[in-house]
Amino acid sequence: MAEKKVTKIGVLTSGGDAPGMNAAVRAVVRTGLYHGLDMFGVMRGYSGMIDDDIVPMDSRSVANIIQRGGTILKTARSAEFMEPAGRKIAYDNLKKRGINGLVIIGGDGSFKGAQKFSNEFDIPCIGLPGTIDKDIAGSDFTIGFDTAVNTAVEAIDKIRDTADAHDRLFIVEVMGRDAGYIALHSGIATGAENILIPETKTDIEALIHSLSEKEKRKKLVNLVVVAEGEKFGGANEIASIVRQRLPKADIRVCILGHIQRGGSPSCLDRLIASRMGYAAVDCLINGTHNVMVGILNNTLHYTPLDHAVKAKDKISDDWLRIVKILAS
Ligand code: F6P
Repeated sequence: MAEKKVTKIGVLTSGGDAPGMNAAVRAVVRTGLYHGLDMFGVMRGYSGMIDDDIVPMDSRSVANIIQRGGTILKTARSAEFMEPAGRKIAYDNLKKRGINGLVIIGGDGSFKGAQKFSNEFDIPCIGLPGTIDKDIAGSDFTIGFDTAVNTAVEAIDKIRDTADAHDRLFIVEVMGRDAGYIALHSGIATGAENILIPETKTDIEALIHSLSEKEKRKKLVNLVVVAEGEKFGGANEIASIVRQRLPKADIRVCILGHIQRGGSPSCLDRLIASRMGYAAVDCLINGTHNVMVGILNNTLHYTPLDHAVKAKDKISDDWLRIVKILAS
């Protein structure tokens, strides 16, 4: 049976907000309009589908947003949509408007929902990776990651000034519940001595050894960058262990938190969001359905939604060696 032509597209942002989501929404809406399609914004992620909070969008609805952080469509994590009854209500609300294609901008939790929905109902879904964590396989970048890392770098550079002025050891926590990419990238870029991430088991003895060695050699700045999902529990937990083992060290903890999620998107995030948003509409029109649009080696790449859900990239040992060698 021939697939039905997509004529009306809904776009939504789901899960944690990420800088560049607005640029993606703009690209989806304007590409759809260019092709003569009717475009709709679904408010607050899947919750808006269930609550019937769906608004028509024209070119002006997405004016002046490419440079704005957050998401004009707002976002949420919907427990109701994870239940079959919730998805049925959502489907009925799309159906009554004739919406027959969806673009979901979010992380792997959002893709899980999209995968279930597209298996149950005749509405194709396209995912765009929008998360500061970069924990989705099938794309070298996720929308928001570059901005978040640059925010972290700017903050850590400032912390370094105080670490230097007081000869202190700073333990800085960055975001990343299951993934250490923000820690790894920002840590290398700011010259951190140690970077602790969820993907590897933190070796406390090695950490204490390297910090005390540096103390002996009078290394001026001591900076440890820790991802929040690190297995001991994050910066506070690491600091209390280090305090017990190195009682003379003057230690401070700084948790960067949600400042990493907000702010105007970087050029890279605006660019990938625009390319991915454009490609998402192309997919819906040409019948490449139920995929996540990513960018690998600067080329658009399409991963079936179920693989985008399951796969996690492994952090290569090279990265971890670089940290050790450069921090000596
Ligand atoms: O997934 C993005 C992220 O910022 C994670 O790094 C972090 O653990 C989580 O979201 C925080 O979520 P919330 O804003 O709901 O506390």
